[in-house]
Amino acid sequence: MAYRAIIDGFEFILDEGIAITPKGVIEGTPRTFGELGDVMVKKGEEGKVAYWMFRDVLPVPVGGLRGDVTLVLPGRLPSGEFIKTHGHYHPEGPWGRWPELYGVVKGEVLFILQDLKGRRVMLVPVREGELIMVPPGYGHVMVNHKDEAAITFNYVSRLFSSVYGPYKEKKGASVYVYPSEEGFRVVRNPNYEVEEVLWCKPLPLYIKEPILHLAFKPHEEEWFKCEERLRVEDFPR
Ligand SMILES: [Fe+2]
Repeated sequence: MAYRAIIDGFEFILDEGIAITPKGVIEGTPRTFGELGDVMVKKGEEGKVAYWMFRDVLPVPVGGLRGDVTLVLPGRLPSGEFIKTHGHYHPEGPWGRWPELYGVVKGEVLFILQDLKGRRVMLVPVREGELIMVPPGYGHVMVNHKDEAAITFNYVSRLFSSVYGPYKEKKGASVYVYPSEEGFRVVRNPNYEVEEVLWCKPLPLYIKEPILHLAFKPHEEEWFKCEERLRVEDFPR
């Protein structure tokens, strides 16, 4: 199924595997369940695609920045978890660890942000039209906790490669997100010493900002508002 999206003023037509972008027709890179095997509670259905990445497809008038688009499919992983992205950290840059600006143009995703040890965890729902800044030093996973595809974009520095190792070693993020009657439930990953899981709202930055890269504000001290602690279930033994 093809989707049309306007991202930062540019028209995109996205389908599984291919996209018409301002930079031409681009083949997407799939992330399969097999490639997510290290970060899933249970492996299986290895050929199935969880999401499609379209890298470097947004024209960016700022040197050193790259703009990507991701199509996150709806569905469940073999464990019953919602489909999610692999998760990674950013390495140290000249001014600290690199931040990243994300936006959602279709659907809704739940960001799992966690500090370097995975002890402090923030869950941030980001809806269509909203932006979120991933703070320096925070690992990030996107969970598609709705029954429709989500389309996200991100602006990030070209000067580093993401660090995937900690997520592979610990079998994913600090928490796993499963469907429930209330919408979703959060289960502790026993490979971390999770101290708190906070429910947060992104800063009121909206895609309506006339020039989107102006929303990239790495100097902001407060990235989102955390409102409450979430109940977290223990991992079933
Ligand atoms: Fe990132």
